Amino acid sequence: MVFLIQITRIFSNHVEIIEINQTQLDQYARIPISFEVHTVFEVVLTRNGLGGICFTERPVASGHYLKDYDQFGSPLSWAVEFDIQNWGIFMAMDGGLAVGGATVAWNTAGNDMLEGRRDLSVLWDIRVLPVMRGHGIGKLLFEYAAAWSRSRDCEEMKIETQNINVAACRFYSAMGAELGDIRRFAYHSQALIAHEVQLNWYLRL
Ligand SMILES: CC(C)(COP(=O)(O)OP(=O)(O)OC[C@H]1O[C@@H](n2cnc3c(N)ncnc32)[C@H](O)[C@@H]1OP(=O)(O)O)[C@@H](O)C(=O)NCCC(=O)NCCS
Repeated sequence: MVFLIQITRIFSNHVEIIEINQTQLDQYARIPISFEVHTVFEVVLTRNGLGGICFTERPVASGHYLKDYDQFGSPLSWAVEFDIQNWGIFMAMDGGLAVGGATVAWNTAGNDMLEGRRDLSVLWDIRVLPVMRGHGIGKLLFEYAAAWSRSRDCEEMKIETQNINVAACRFYSAMGAELGDIRRFAYHSQALIAHEVQLNWYLRL
């Protein structure tokens, strides 16, 4: 198989972002997306919402648990489930080591997350190798994804996360995204995650 990785840009230090194609998703999938949940943002309504909605960070009753998004659809299943030919798939490389990945969905018919809009992209996935988290790699990937979306004339980039992912919420906020939707009942039909609140963030591009 032809080695199709295209080096597109070199960033600071030793980390570079490369663009890959769907035949290389096995490398991407080896980067764990799982994380330990120690606290969650409890969503509290005052006067049934008329008095406002407040986020309060609370410890998890059981102490902590592991959350793994790949249990619900790993990168290896994307091409089976969706038409990903217009998607951007990126990896952060430190020398020969893949230390992070990000994927942007765009211009895909029938994908509800994209709201039928051509000027909206969705940051479908972002993950950094656990030992490398907190060192700026997520920021590099996020900024690359935003620039990629901008180059396709997108006005906004949307990002879905949940109230149980406090680190991701803080990360998206730090990246300049704003909370758009708080969907308290979005996952009620999915037993394993029925208690989670869906939070959709939007970055103006
Ligand atoms: C979310 C994730 C991609 C962030 O990547 P990262 O490389 O750790 O983030 P960075 O080091 O680039 O952080 C950039 C900024 O985001 C904020 N931030 C990142 N992680 C944070 C955390 N755990 N707590 C508070 N703020 C955080 C900080 O403001 C940080 O800037 P600073 O370092 O100058 O303070 C990474 O933690 C991860 O892989 N998590 C598991 C997978 C996941 O949850 N993906 C998202 C699914 S919705």
